[in-house]
Amino acid sequence: MNLELTERVIEVSNLKTYFYLDIGIVKAVDGVDFSVDRGKTLGIIGESGCGKSVTVHTIMRLIQSPPGKIVDGSIKLYRLKNNELEIVEITKLDPKGKEMRDIRGKEIGMVFQEPMTAFSPMYTIGDQIIEAILTHENIDKKEARERAIEFLRRVGIPRPERTIDTYPFQLSGGMRQRAMIAMALSCYPRLLIADEPTTAVDVTVQAQILDLLQELQEDMKLAIIFITHNLAVVSEIADDIAVMYLGKIVEFGKKEEIFSHPLHPYTVALFRSIPKVEGKLERLVPIYGNVPSSYQIPEGCSFHPRCENAIRGICNVTSPDLIDVGNGHKVRCLIYQKVEV
Ligand SMILES: Nc1ncnc2c1ncn2[C@@H]1O[C@H](COP(=O)(O)OP(=O)(O)O)[C@@H](O)[C@H]1O
Ligand SMILES: [Mg+2]
Repeated sequence: MNLELTERVIEVSNLKTYFYLDIGIVKAVDGVDFSVDRGKTLGIIGESGCGKSVTVHTIMRLIQSPPGKIVDGSIKLYRLKNNELEIVEITKLDPKGKEMRDIRGKEIGMVFQEPMTAFSPMYTIGDQIIEAILTHENIDKKEARERAIEFLRRVGIPRPERTIDTYPFQLSGGMRQRAMIAMALSCYPRLLIADEPTTAVDVTVQAQILDLLQELQEDMKLAIIFITHNLAVVSEIADDIAVMYLGKIVEFGKKEEIFSHPLHPYTVALFRSIPKVEGKLERLVPIYGNVPSSYQIPEGCSFHPRCENAIRGICNVTSPDLIDVGNGHKVRCLIYQKVEV
């Protein structure tokens, strides 16, 4: 067996997810490619509305259809079944079918910004984690409870044998977040998808959650797709970074490479918009303009109306490809592309 292939966990190619609305077609995800290997973290960054959540909801097959539709592309999930490598094409599965239900929770765990979307307020967190384990594993309730307690302990929840019987509202935001991570990992998934998991918590809790995720990642050799619009967070957790703008990856590369040599004018603008502490003054340069609606994507390079370097007659006409400029650093900008004018 090819070792390189067994390290692979997920491979997304030319993925397109559109929403067909009365006002027009929203091209929320429009030709996205990436892959994630075991033990690695892909950070996806970009402003609100750029298609980050739709990308991962498509992987989980949680896109409501209609109006949503996977229009093109593939999502290959690499999994081990009886120690044999098996590749599942997720786009071909029935979103409500048994196979997809097995993948959700068992192969892929997911944590969200708001733990209350993962937990029902009506049941104890223990009931819900145990239920998740019993859905996927052939073990009895007592073993499932033991495993739930063990995971609550692993995520740093104090007195897990008691906390397991509390209701979500009885926990602090940070503890709920930890409980959600425990639930997402309780069936030993190979892939964890985290969609802005630290956006709603304060900076101290955020740092604790990031440390915890990194620790669990190492223990479990988890592949992680981590979505955030917080660059400090992505700089801590990511190996690779994909910068998304209006449904497309506009820059991709190793974290160090992206932070030391950002190439796309959008990435440069994003980095400039982080508050920098200079003496006692915080400097914040907002990116010019707003993200346009995804149903009215500008012609040519979709970033050109906001781009300082846009060249009239070229950038508003020609749509750039994602070009590899070396070392796997890719950028979708005509400045880096040989254009025949
Ligand atoms: N159910 C939906 N129906 C119509 N449009 C949607 C739906 N979900 C998301 N979109 C649109 O898809 C685009 C990408 O959204 P999203 O992936 O949530 O952005 P992000 O997570 O990067 O903030 C946005 O323009 C959003 O309005
Ligand atoms: Mg989102």
